Amino acid sequence: MSTTLITGSSSGIGLELAKQFAKDGNDVVLVARSEDKLTELAETIRSSFGVRADVIISDLSKPEAVDRLCERLQDRGLEIETLVNNAGFGALGKFTELSADRQTDMLMVNVVALTRLTRQLLPQMIERGSGGILNVGSIAAYQAGPNMAVYYASKAYVLSFTEGLREEVKGTGVHVTCLEPGPTESGFGDDSGMGRLDMFSKSTMSALDVAKAGYRGYRNNEDIVIPGWQNRLMVTSTSFLPRIVTRKIVARMQGV
Ligand SMILES: NC(=O)c1ccc[n+]([C@@H]2O[C@H](COP(=O)([O-])OP(=O)(O)OC[C@H]3O[C@@H](n4cnc5c(N)ncnc54)[C@H](OP(=O)(O)O)[C@@H]3O)[C@@H](O)[C@H]2O)c1
Repeated sequence: MSTTLITGSSSGIGLELAKQFAKDGNDVVLVARSEDKLTELAETIRSSFGVRADVIISDLSKPEAVDRLCERLQDRGLEIETLVNNAGFGALGKFTELSADRQTDMLMVNVVALTRLTRQLLPQMIERGSGGILNVGSIAAYQAGPNMAVYYASKAYVLSFTEGLREEVKGTGVHVTCLEPGPTESGFGDDSGMGRLDMFSKSTMSALDVAKAGYRGYRNNEDIVIPGWQNRLMVTSTSFLPRIVTRKIVARMQGV
């Protein structure tokens, strides 16, 4: 029986990814800040799929969070076969108007915790010659995002980091995949403020469909998974346009 740790599994894409892994017979470790939601999900997973579901409460914006989380794994004797770095959030607004703390927390969760957790867990996967990392990025990775500059930059990091790692572990038996969702129905739209933009609300996919695509892509050891033809079309057309054009389009869509 293998164990999958999913960060940000209290809602949205992470919750659906946790169910996908559990449905396939994997034990799961659910990580986020919302204790009630994780406890309820763990109960649902245990009763629906008959697998073990552990809950670890962690605020990944805190510098010591990843090390504490790994200590808890060790205390419970949990060996992680698959790590899903899904926790993340965004904030719509000008860099100088959004709070410095919120943007720093964003980098801590979207970038630093993802990197440190990978550094902690990947060596054991390479040693075992199995398992892997599924990082949740975004189609925001492919261009700059005026009015959401830190979020877009954080997702560009996730894509670049994942691709770099993938080449490094080639031939070890370890999978490394980046899931790049476009607008998705979850807590993200309201929390970030993006939900009120036309570009977001008119083209959302369900979190379940995004998770299914991510799970399948990870199992098949695909490098990058972009769910939905509209999102794939957007990313492809971005690659043909000069960066000055793409950032101006995003600036207009995001109300600069
Ligand atoms: N929805 C979209 O349109 C979209 C598009 C592209 C990419 N994504 C990416 O998809 C991933 C999942 O987001 P989602 O759409 O499913 O949004 P969501 O429903 O808001 O879920 C975000 C998850 O991250 C967790 N999280 C946030 N801050 C955290 C912290 N400080 N410590 C620990 N966990 C934290 C939340 O749990 P708690 O609040 O319980 O801590 C929650 O479980 C994110 O990386 C996001 O950037 C989303």
